[in-house]
Amino acid sequence: MPKFLIEGNAKLSGEIEVKGAKNAALKIIPATLLSKEKININNLPDIEDVNRSLELLKDLGGFLKHSKNSCEIQAEKITKNELNPEIANKLRASIMFVGPLLARLGEVKFPHPGGCVIGAGTRPIDLFLEGYGAMGAEIKWKDGFYHIKAKRLKGCAYFFTTVSVTGTESLMMTAVLASGTTILKNCAMEPEIGALADFLNGCGAKIKGAGTPTIMIEGVKELKGGTFNIIPDRIEAGTFAIMAAATRSKLKITKCNPGHLEILLSMFKKQGIGFSSGEDWLEIKPAKVIKSYSIKTHEYPGFPTDLQSPYTVLMTQAAGSSLIHETIYDRRLLFTDMLTQMGADIIMCDPHRVVVNGPTKLAGRKLTSPDLRAGIAIIIAAFVAEGKTEVDNIYQIDRGYENIDTRLSSLGAKIKRIE
Ligand code: EPU
Repeated sequence: MPKFLIEGNAKLSGEIEVKGAKNAALKIIPATLLSKEKININNLPDIEDVNRSLELLKDLGGFLKHSKNSCEIQAEKITKNELNPEIANKLRASIMFVGPLLARLGEVKFPHPGGCVIGAGTRPIDLFLEGYGAMGAEIKWKDGFYHIKAKRLKGCAYFFTTVSVTGTESLMMTAVLASGTTILKNCAMEPEIGALADFLNGCGAKIKGAGTPTIMIEGVKELKGGTFNIIPDRIEAGTFAIMAAATRSKLKITKCNPGHLEILLSMFKKQGIGFSSGEDWLEIKPAKVIKSYSIKTHEYPGFPTDLQSPYTVLMTQAAGSSLIHETIYDRRLLFTDMLTQMGADIIMCDPHRVVVNGPTKLAGRKLTSPDLRAGIAIIIAAFVAEGKTEVDNIYQIDRGYENIDTRLSSLGAKIKRIE
């Protein structure tokens, strides 16, 4: 199994470019199934999750021409109504194919989506199923598969009792070809939802309100093709900003949208972490003293759960105590045990809350990456630490960060991939 060998006491310098957003690409790829015409996608991140999603699309019969950071897709004919279980079992975002398949074929069969260890047990899809039901679909569970059928999807009114990013996106794309109007309430407001709506509207959909709690979708008969650019990955940009702050480095982050990181940058101001920014760049300056600051993860525009793990590492280097309150996922703080092994002073209050006392020295260790975001957090901790760190199970990191070792090496970091 490949692993990373990392040397500590790292200082980064120079510029790093942010890639296209994983969590936008993973919705736009399945959404291409809603059109029979040719669709070009640019600024596609070259990461494992995107590659799995493209494999799933190809397996369904979609025509695909894929180069590193772009692809051409045409789903004129879809030859299968069943998601390949081998891929779907590895990828939570496989659920995003269900709505478009249902809209195009009137029938879809799929296993419970897998691929993630951060939620309690298997992460639920009850909101998706309820929403398809509200649009007139019939749902059955048999022999380990969901079977969903709908002769013709019809518009509906649906209120999300839990705010869900993929839930919002899934019902939004399912409603695009339904008859009549759909009104979704208490929707998630993440920028990736606006990006998906822009893509669909660019193909002829009629969606209003994406990025607000209420989204209205007027069904249309068909979608056209087009060319679309994936928005910059705000989580990657935020991760690099935190990495620079934790290693006291001067780093320019380019091709990003600082407007999507308002909460992090507002906190940096209070913590004594200097930065300057423009429309599509952000430069972090080395801080002498970082002040601790507590966080509570929240849906956008609140503090993103996907930045919680890197931020927790940053707090081990900040002066004072901070409470990290993870409200979205039950298992996302378990990785802090690894930081404790590296020398951090962290007290777990309960599965959702830890107190970090800083600053502490960290020391390199042999560790295993439990999930994508904890994996990159361990890399940040390894850069801050004294000595060498070995990180195993780096597939988890490759799922979401393109060529991370090469890109960080170009900033002066010592990180080596051992195949
Ligand atoms: N939930 C339900 N029922 C559902 C769906 C969700 O109870 O049917 C609950 C979840 O268990 C969770 C809460 O709703 O407690 C919110 O989860 P959400 O559905 O918003 O998460 P998601 O849509 O599955 C997306 C991102 C995650 C990111 C979250 C929160 C994608 C592919 N994934 O997940 O990204 O953490 O939103 O912002 O867009 C990552 O990139 O590392 C990652 C995990």
